[in-house]
Amino acid sequence: MENKVIPYGRQSITQADIQAVIETLQSDFLTQGPKIAEFEKKFAEYIGCKYAVAVNNATAGLHIAVMAMGLQKGERVITTPITFAASANCVKFVDGEVWFADIDRDTYLLSLEKTRELIESKPKGFFKGIIPVDFAGLPVNLEAFRKLAQEHDLWIIEDACHAPGGWFIDSKGDQQRCGNGVYADAAVFSFHPVKHIACGEGGMVTTNSEEVFKKLLLLRSHGITKENMSENPGGWFYEMQTLGFNYRLTDFQAALGITQLAKNEEGVARRNEIANRYKEAFKGKLNFQSLPGKSYNAHHLFVIEVENRKEMYDFLHKNKVLAQIHYVPVHQLPYYKSLGVMGTDLNNANDYYKKCISLPMYPTLTDEEQGFVIEKVLEFVNG
Ligand SMILES: Cc1ncc(COP(=O)(O)O)c(C=O)c1O
Repeated sequence: MENKVIPYGRQSITQADIQAVIETLQSDFLTQGPKIAEFEKKFAEYIGCKYAVAVNNATAGLHIAVMAMGLQKGERVITTPITFAASANCVKFVDGEVWFADIDRDTYLLSLEKTRELIESKPKGFFKGIIPVDFAGLPVNLEAFRKLAQEHDLWIIEDACHAPGGWFIDSKGDQQRCGNGVYADAAVFSFHPVKHIACGEGGMVTTNSEEVFKKLLLLRSHGITKENMSENPGGWFYEMQTLGFNYRLTDFQAALGITQLAKNEEGVARRNEIANRYKEAFKGKLNFQSLPGKSYNAHHLFVIEVENRKEMYDFLHKNKVLAQIHYVPVHQLPYYKSLGVMGTDLNNANDYYKKCISLPMYPTLTDEEQGFVIEKVLEFVNG
């Protein structure tokens, strides 16, 4: 164990995954074939939403989701500072303004109270949307955010990149799976290798709105379509109806996505098993993300908090435990600083960042490896 490198996250590729990719490579379609449609259908079924649009990564998915909401230059959107930069960058891609509301100190998620405070400190119509993030895999209570959004006529894009398979129970007692589109207008998932479902690169946008779905399809593929054309001189004809992109996933990536998706429920259960063991070992000694009432954390990450974080990071890395920091707060990144940070005070986010460190968390982490990680963390904590 002493010499084994233990990363904070990693993909798990089985023979079935490899076989599915090989078969697709030997088929007629490398891109835009049947595997994309199959992946979208199965993903929508799994998440429990009406529509799913596969894209080449979640950053592209966030870009077209923001465009599908109709965000225009200068319009303002609220997000969390504790996320990967892409959650905010999508607003800048269309020359919008990013405003930050602080996080809740216990859940590390965008604070509903701070978001409300920010919205209500401005005239009606000042903000257009909210992008909450299911950070580390913990589902945001979107029912509460929807209520707030409704009062102020805002759209919601759920950044669910960390949370396929996570859910919360709403006030009616119904289970709401992350990205199911019941309370958000659209949601975005990532299939980067450190995430639950690995496609190499890849992403999915989900929605229950047919209008949003149609816009996403157009934007994913150059703005080109054969539907609702103003004229139709023959079978070859197509129209470019808006300015779009090539944000398509390939068929062999989709084939991998399908086999990976089939294992996700089992993977999330294993992640929860790992999380429970960490919690048991660290109870009363260290702070970690709290789980509000009735929800199921998909556990992309397991974050603990320590006062002397840099020393712990160095100590774990010296022992080949490649703990990571999630994230440098977005408002502290030079690009966002140069724009001038706008929003509420961000005291909780700043304090969290000083202490946070993510421990290894992935389904194939063995009990022995996790035991070693726990031993090293406690060795450091106990001095
Ligand atoms: C919360 C969040 N949003 C968006 C992204 C962007 O995902 P992708 O790498 O698929 O573009 C990531 C990736 O790390 C993420 O963690």
